Amino acid sequence: MMEVIERVLISKGELDRQAEELGRRISEDYAGKELVIIGVLKGGFIFLADLARKITIPVDLDFMSVSSYGDSSKSSGVVKIIKDVDTNIGGKHVLIVEDIIDTGLTLNHLVELLKTRGPLSVKICAALDKPSKRKANVQVDYKGIEIPDEFVVGYGLDYAGKYRNIPEVCILKKEIYMK
Ligand code: XMP
Ligand code: MG
Repeated sequence: MMEVIERVLISKGELDRQAEELGRRISEDYAGKELVIIGVLKGGFIFLADLARKITIPVDLDFMSVSSYGDSSKSSGVVKIIKDVDTNIGGKHVLIVEDIIDTGLTLNHLVELLKTRGPLSVKICAALDKPSKRKANVQVDYKGIEIPDEFVVGYGLDYAGKYRNIPEVCILKKEIYMK
């Protein structure tokens, strides 16, 4: 599988340290509060699995699956809900957990949608951040590792559905997606 990889960008050790640090902050900030963590499928599942086990307070965990309308290679900002949460978030604090924030359009839309359901707060935690591509002005409260404008796979992130199971964040060889 590693034959498609140009190089490892973020090691497993660094990712583990980040999950631990963010988990500690979230546990402190939400102590004594009712928190619903919403993992965004599919990309967010590995990071959330790591993060959730570093959170030391009781939380509700739920999942959403969203996809951009239109051209799948560009974020349109209008998201279609493939799977919604089952949890009633009214009167509770919400933390959205994503793999990566790129243009920010997807998360922006998701935050606005969730806010219509009467939560006490809606915040964002993303494992990776590509600030160079940002279009929407979204506030990422628990910000992950900044990466350059490269297409990455692994740690939940895919190319054409594959490579989510690579443990590190890796830069894909250009020849793979230029084909
Ligand atoms: P926004 O709306 O912030 O969307 O542009 C973020 C979503 O775009 C996908 N994305 C990537 N997926 N490698 C990937 O596998 C990348 O380098 C990458 N950059 C953005 C991802 O699905 C994320 O949820
Ligand atoms: Mg995604």
